[in-house]
Amino acid sequence: MYICPVCKKKLKRLDNVLHCQNGHSFDIARKGYVNLLTTHKRNPKNSGDNAEMVKARTRFLDKGYYLPLAERIAQTMQGQLKGCVKPVIIDSGCGEGYYTCVYAKAMTDASIFGIDISKAAVSHCMTRVHTSGITNCEFAVASSFELPFINESADMVISTFAPVSNDEYARVLKKGGRLIVVSPSARHLFEMKSAAYDKPYENKPNVYGLNKFEKTHEEIFEYDRALCSSQDILDLFSMTPYFYKTSAEGLQRLKELDSLDVTCGFCIQVYTKKDFK
Ligand SMILES: C[S@@+](CC[C@H](N)C(=O)[O-])C[C@H]1O[C@@H](n2cnc3c(N)ncnc32)[C@H](O)[C@@H]1O
Ligand SMILES: [Zn+2]
Repeated sequence: MYICPVCKKKLKRLDNVLHCQNGHSFDIARKGYVNLLTTHKRNPKNSGDNAEMVKARTRFLDKGYYLPLAERIAQTMQGQLKGCVKPVIIDSGCGEGYYTCVYAKAMTDASIFGIDISKAAVSHCMTRVHTSGITNCEFAVASSFELPFINESADMVISTFAPVSNDEYARVLKKGGRLIVVSPSARHLFEMKSAAYDKPYENKPNVYGLNKFEKTHEEIFEYDRALCSSQDILDLFSMTPYFYKTSAEGLQRLKELDSLDVTCGFCIQVYTKKDFK
């Protein structure tokens, strides 16, 4: 399934090392993931979530606030993969593995490959699979814009709140393969923005330029939740892009809250790879 990030030839496993025929090799870390980002492509500014961000995301997700979303996505995936035996699924920008593990438990016959550019996030994915006894997931440190997978090897790619690549997703998907993209809806966390900003605004839809795909389904999935502690409010806030756009006064207003009712709103889009032949 994996290809060499240097020469793009297939990688084969020998003991705890992945090798290609041109002599490039990649160690499998003690926790079980492999780092397939080459040194010259690693850029600290572009290396995804750091360890603190991963911890905040894990603390928040483990409270179950987004479990309805994870289950809804898993349901959508199952519907789209109906009739597909032992599907191969890539979770692109998988983060610290919360959603990947929900998918793995819902689809035990699937092989799921999670990639993320953040080593801290991928390392936490391995902790998740080890602690929950999941055996149908593998993880690699890699970029969505240079996926370490063979051409036309996957039945589905899923991207949840992560960067989206038209060319790479089309390359790795089999003929007729499905892409699921999940993003915030217009009303997502509007109440949190009302607390932090003087003039809150609705989210604009993301534009992905997915011209190698045809959109076949779109759903707005929304529900309300009460965030029950200051820690939960700040953890969730630090997971959002609003975190970087908020004034010191706005952040202080949020810090003073010990509960907040919010709309959790998501847009789930399903695409089918276009047939170019
Ligand atoms: C908002 S988080 C979402 C993570 C996960 N899908 C979730 O919903 O919990 C975005 C993730 O994309 C990762 N990321 C950023 N740039 C990336 C890239 N070029 N390739 C792969 N992952 C990337 C970050 O490290 C981070 O884990
Ligand atoms: Zn190679």
